[in-house]
Amino acid sequence: MQQKSTNTVWHHATVTRDSREQLNEHKSVILWFTGLSGAGKSTLANAVEALLYESGKHTYVLDGDNVRQGLCGDLSFSEQDRVENIRRIGEVAKLFVDAGMLTLSAFISPFKADRLAVRNLVATDSFIEIYCRCDLSVCEERDVKGLYKKARAGEIAEFTGISSPYEEPEHAELVVDTDKKPLQECAQQVVDYLMEKGII
Ligand code: ADX
Repeated sequence: MQQKSTNTVWHHATVTRDSREQLNEHKSVILWFTGLSGAGKSTLANAVEALLYESGKHTYVLDGDNVRQGLCGDLSFSEQDRVENIRRIGEVAKLFVDAGMLTLSAFISPFKADRLAVRNLVATDSFIEIYCRCDLSVCEERDVKGLYKKARAGEIAEFTGISSPYEEPEHAELVVDTDKKPLQECAQQVVDYLMEKGII
């Protein structure tokens, strides 16, 4: 991104992230769900959020399809626009973390470099990459939104997994096999990780 906002001076907050975390009695982190369309990122993020919410945690889900109807509504699915999409979400997620939230994001985020860039925006232990691993054939069979059918018919260009690449994470903190395990088991796997790491 080309920095055009010059002559700005960072103002330090009076109420800090630390104080918010103390008030909330849990840490704030980004839970970055990545995977193919139809892999179950949004479903899993929402299931995890429900479990966290029930136990009194402060959470928020940033969802690809939803954010693309507002903040990122001006972006297409070209490589350049996907990069910008993830850059913006990274910045938003960083603000949510600063606000003390357990921030769950569900974006395909197909490029390694972009996920790394978001990771580098926050402290090392504040970014948890969760790979929703699901075979393309399963995503395509589910085709909940009917988009794979359209992509195969050539009606949608640059569709991830069909005509646009997805770079699998190599060092994700968690790999969840969403095509093999039931939803609640997948959600519990994420919650267990957060407990194990002392985040909640
Ligand atoms: S990302 O690649 O920039 O991270 P994002 O998660 O925001 O994608 O949006 C993906 C969602 O947009 C998909 O779940 C699907 O519903 C919709 N979509 C529409 N066109 C495409 C496309 N060409 N490739 C992938 N997803 C698409």
